[in-house]
Amino acid sequence: LDAAQGQAAGAVAAAPAPRAREPLTILYGSESGNAETLALKAKKLAAKQNFDAKVVDMADADLASLAKVKNLIVYISTWGEGDPPQRAEDFYKALLAEDAPRFEGVRFAVLALGDTAYVNFCQTGREIDTRLEALGGNRVHARQDLDLDFQKQAAAWTDKALEVLAPAEPATTVVHVDFKGPGAEDDEERFTAESPIEAEITDLINLNGTGSSRETWHAEFAVDDPAFVYKPGDAIGLYPENDPELADELLHAVGLSGDAALKQKLVRSLDITTVSRPLVDGYAKLTGRADVAKLLEGDALARFTADHQLVDVFANYPEKLTADQFVGLLRPLPGRLYSVASSLKAHPGEAHLCVGAVRWSSHGRARKGVTSTYLADRRKVGDKARIYIKPNRHFGLPADGATPIVMIGAGTGVAPYRGFIEERAENGDSGKSWLFFGERNFSYDFLYQLEWQDHLESGALSRIDVAFSRDQPEKIYVQHRLWERRDEIQGWIADGAHVYVCGDEKGMAKDVDATLVKILAEAAKGDEDAGRAKLKELTKAGRYQRDVY
Ligand code: 2AM
Repeated sequence: LDAAQGQAAGAVAAAPAPRAREPLTILYGSESGNAETLALKAKKLAAKQNFDAKVVDMADADLASLAKVKNLIVYISTWGEGDPPQRAEDFYKALLAEDAPRFEGVRFAVLALGDTAYVNFCQTGREIDTRLEALGGNRVHARQDLDLDFQKQAAAWTDKALEVLAPAEPATTVVHVDFKGPGAEDDEERFTAESPIEAEITDLINLNGTGSSRETWHAEFAVDDPAFVYKPGDAIGLYPENDPELADELLHAVGLSGDAALKQKLVRSLDITTVSRPLVDGYAKLTGRADVAKLLEGDALARFTADHQLVDVFANYPEKLTADQFVGLLRPLPGRLYSVASSLKAHPGEAHLCVGAVRWSSHGRARKGVTSTYLADRRKVGDKARIYIKPNRHFGLPADGATPIVMIGAGTGVAPYRGFIEERAENGDSGKSWLFFGERNFSYDFLYQLEWQDHLESGALSRIDVAFSRDQPEKIYVQHRLWERRDEIQGWIADGAHVYVCGDEKGMAKDVDATLVKILAEAAKGDEDAGRAKLKELTKAGRYQRDVY
């Protein structure tokens, strides 16, 4: 394809002998797919500009050969509290290790992605950028650190990086022809975060029984467009609106009560809950308040954000602002991603989500998760909401429907498996499937219980094991069930099963990971290291996939 494009462009330009194409390696480390998408886009762009570009995932990267490339662009995101993306962890460690190879003369540029809600914003990008230079690399374009609304700035940064990396133009200028014939496919993507679709909510129910300590909403969205295509394992983004009462409280705190247009803007399009360093910094400078500036010292901000939100900044340190000053401090309201809970084959024109309502209280204030309670409290059947598709290239059913699957999830982590099983049922796939599901109480919290029973009956689901943590004095979790069934799990893995984990990372996913290591160690008659190595092998082969949050 690249060669054909080159020829077409050359033919139209009808001039100089084709120049040798400039080699370019585009390296990425991605958690939710943003850095990966940027890398793939950069490759397309580079191919049009006489680069011979290839894309490398840090998960598969060979450090020694990377150290010898001529041109290197890096897209790297930071995960949570300042960590590298899980699949990039080995690469990251090797690059920062003392025995890392020299990158002498490698021309490089790093784009860092992150979230200013976290104190160690873009930490991994900063470290990689610094490290490449320390190893002798030649930074040809300054690093940029981008927040959740990165698209526009990332595109501009990439343009500039390619411009800087391009070899000097020869005497005869090559005419670049944007080769788009009439009616040619436009590159513009649909149903992305930048171009969401208004979908009608056709069903919205609380799955937990009355009396439950949980509140989990099943929401169905109707999308009247055949081009709206996702696969089980993908995520659906949902744009919320803020709580109008919270908007009022904020407006009051900064002396702007009664500005209806501003309130509308706060509700619809600005992030009014997240405390970020740039925001606190901006507020301190605007107001000249020493007590606000103090929040930026040492780990004060991390301690503050652990149990405070934006409203506390303005309520605890009140100052009058103008509307422009106030809006200037706020970032755009981001959408929130949820693993899709349906198969498009089973529900044409629909996307289903399973959303846990987040509510807590701190410092005498009732707090709410923005998107989950927008859905739970302020949407009803017949209303619309803006949604988009976020493909997950690293979480999905095996290509072969005969491959066995083991699905492990707690709480809303069960969502993607509903899509998996529906899809396999529609396909009539023969592969065995085994679900491990954990929640608090059997009587209230067995999410999609009747559906699982139907699937068991039809054979679409082969087995289910449940762990209800609060039905007995001692905690029983999914990993305890896994351990009890370890002989059979070993058998399934030996038969080529793919293993999936979805749900809470810090608790469930971490403990399940440790349990799988133990199980694999036992199977290999080895120690923990042997088990860890085996799990790495499964990960590399795409047979251990995680969708954790
Ligand atoms: P708990 O709330 O009783 O502690 C979904 O949230 C389910 O995951 C609940 O049953 C919850 O139990 C359980 N859970 C909490 N921490 C866990 C962990 N570290 N490993 C596995 N499951 C966990």
